[in-house]
Amino acid sequence: MKHVKLSDDIYYLGVNDRRTNLFENAWPLPNGVAYNSYLIVDEKVALIDTVEYGHMEDFLLKIEEILGQTPIDYLVVNHMEPDHSGAIKQIVNQYPDIEIVGNKKTFPMLEGFFGIEEGKKEVTEGDTLKLGKHELSFYMAPMVHWPETMVTYESTTKTLFSADAFGSFGTLDGGVFDDELNLDFYHDELRRYYSNIVGKYGNQTQKALAKLSTLDIKQIAATHGPVWRCHIDYIMDKYQKWSKYEAEEDGVVIVFGSMYGNTEKMADHIARKLSEEGIKNIRIYDASKTHASYIISDIWKYNGLIIGSAAYNGGIFPPVGSLLDKLKNMYIKNRHLGIFGNSSWGGGGHRTLQKWAEELKLEPLGPKAEARCAPNNDELALCEEIATEVANAIKNQN
Ligand code: FEO
Repeated sequence: MKHVKLSDDIYYLGVNDRRTNLFENAWPLPNGVAYNSYLIVDEKVALIDTVEYGHMEDFLLKIEEILGQTPIDYLVVNHMEPDHSGAIKQIVNQYPDIEIVGNKKTFPMLEGFFGIEEGKKEVTEGDTLKLGKHELSFYMAPMVHWPETMVTYESTTKTLFSADAFGSFGTLDGGVFDDELNLDFYHDELRRYYSNIVGKYGNQTQKALAKLSTLDIKQIAATHGPVWRCHIDYIMDKYQKWSKYEAEEDGVVIVFGSMYGNTEKMADHIARKLSEEGIKNIRIYDASKTHASYIISDIWKYNGLIIGSAAYNGGIFPPVGSLLDKLKNMYIKNRHLGIFGNSSWGGGGHRTLQKWAEELKLEPLGPKAEARCAPNNDELALCEEIATEVANAIKNQN
């Protein structure tokens, strides 16, 4: 079998997962996902991360094809989440003399997940490991995406093995490198991956990016998605933006929760007014229908956000409440915000939205727009005012 190589001695060992429906059993995978691992063959052989448990057989077979009877000396564990650590136990069984390279936060997880206590080689910030002509150095990247996450830099080929950072949803269908595939497809999946999985850790991502800026990087080998070798500035720029919660484009995401269409009517009214104000990117989402994964990704994309909810049992309509919880958990910021609601028989939707905005230090623009039942003309006029204020804020930002 032909193997994909990042250089003469570095092999791509990724596998495609087209079976799993939900990443982390939480986030949809309509386009699948790739789990990437890499093998450096030198005087010493080093495996960088592994793959998810269910794809181990193909993975082990590839290693055997490349190495034959040659043992693996080191397994570098950049990240312990089981989508990458799933095959560690089998690797240790197959190569009992292997040394597992990790940091002080890696090993308690290694013991906790797999009961492995032996064969550990602990590294700290900036430590190096010579394999022959290749030399690895290690840099801690806590919370990008778990506390033990680190990245590994190979100095001969200037390759950064970046763990989850710069990764993407979507399988690698033939092309592995960024110049072999159409990035238009991956653009949304990259943002969806970042916002859904790493989005909460913007500050930590900023710190990691500052650290990486001191390295001369010619290739980025992430654990998901394409290997970057031609568009490194592109992906670095996206990560700078996303981790600072900066939107990519002018536009407004309108999310609504509506039981019988009255709150939806307000959303449509707002959208029309935004359009009249010259906003071209307007996406309306029904929180009951579209998975939060996609809504969150578009919220990361656009600088305007307008959320409306019906009241439900004295509080917010649950599908909207669930989205608000996620956004609060991710510390969403830097958005021109509008809120609206429908009090129906009890109220509580708009009040919850107001409280949520206060907690996130986001100031809703425009008047209070809360319909009592079906929105009347006065209430729709208030919705229009919100649209105008959000549109103006977007225009004035430029
Ligand atoms: Fe791809 Fe955080 O694991």
